[in-house]
Amino acid sequence: MPAPAETKTEKRFDEKLLDIYNGAATTLMIAVGHRTKLFDKMAEIGAASSEELAKAATLNERYVREWLNAMTVSGIVNFDVQNQKYSLPPEHAYLLIRKSGKDNLAVFAQYVSVMAGVEDEIIECFHKGGGVPYSSYNRFHEVMAEDSGQSLVPALLETVLPLVDGLVEKLEQGIDVMDIGCGRGLALMRMAKAFPKSRFVGYDLCDDTVAFATQEAKARGLSNLSFEVRDVSALGDAEKFDFITAFDAIHDQAQPQTVLNNISKALKSTGTFLMQDIDASSKVENNLDHPLGPFLYAVSCMHCMTVSLSQNGEGLGTMWGRETAKTYLERAGFKKVEIQKLTHDIQNCIYVATK
Ligand SMILES: C[S@@+](CC[C@H](N)C(=O)[O-])C[C@H]1O[C@@H](n2cnc3c(N)ncnc32)[C@H](O)[C@@H]1O
Repeated sequence: MPAPAETKTEKRFDEKLLDIYNGAATTLMIAVGHRTKLFDKMAEIGAASSEELAKAATLNERYVREWLNAMTVSGIVNFDVQNQKYSLPPEHAYLLIRKSGKDNLAVFAQYVSVMAGVEDEIIECFHKGGGVPYSSYNRFHEVMAEDSGQSLVPALLETVLPLVDGLVEKLEQGIDVMDIGCGRGLALMRMAKAFPKSRFVGYDLCDDTVAFATQEAKARGLSNLSFEVRDVSALGDAEKFDFITAFDAIHDQAQPQTVLNNISKALKSTGTFLMQDIDASSKVENNLDHPLGPFLYAVSCMHCMTVSLSQNGEGLGTMWGRETAKTYLERAGFKKVEIQKLTHDIQNCIYVATK
């Protein structure tokens, strides 16, 4: 077939595609730079040759040099030809090193590698349906905990909990709190430490993440906190908790409506449910300018939607959106649902729901 005549629009699309491929490849290199701590080391030692950097980071020079060259041509690192030294400009370092806490965007690059690990299984699902279970993912829980550990946990006490009127005072006095889909449990650990008179429990489906959380809570000496392997779609608790949280843990449920119904039942009539979830519209046409749109729909297809489908679930997906979320919460019996947006988090919004 002859190539179509080149129009201005087609040319622009060629360039766009190449940008996309370069961006994807660079994202993998950013994940490598994060995991090897090369960005942190570059920020620490300043301009260095590949030999100097490799020595300081105790890594193999040949690999470090190729990585540096990938970082250089992608405009992340500067290269001084005369001295053969590479440097990470401070304004770039700020967005790529661990010291920057919530502003370290390098953490998110790892999701691309995590998703790429299940590509073969996802392709099979395109042909046969079904889904890829949590157990197929390498490092998902580790990366998720790193993500929420830097974005949610430091903001919890100062900005997230105060969204609920009078909650901090109640936590200080002593109340019962449950976190569903707690993952490695870092948010609960932060709360359990800050509010020793309150009692905290975290439930998660995956035994490896619960084992991690249990061990970590023990190491931190937190006796007001426990974790259990439990499927929250069969919760069974009634009027038991004053405060329930779900951080990024509803949209990938097999049965999200059942889980929200269970949460509503488990909550005392005076209690509050705080749900952090992806901030988007339920309609794709409203997400065209979403700053993370392509990333989040990809995460959905390669993780959140498929883990739900692997359990014969609904497969809501990451981008279920505010409209659907509000409907599900109302159906679960929450009469008042407020949606809050916090400046520390471009990805999520917070639903504060009461019965
Ligand atoms: C996206 S992760 C969020 C983890 C954690 N809340 C955080 O912010 O780091 C969702 C978690 O929900 C858990 N999960 C999914 N379905 C569940 C179910 N039916 N019962 C309990 N946990 C579930 C998963 O194992 C996973 O750890």
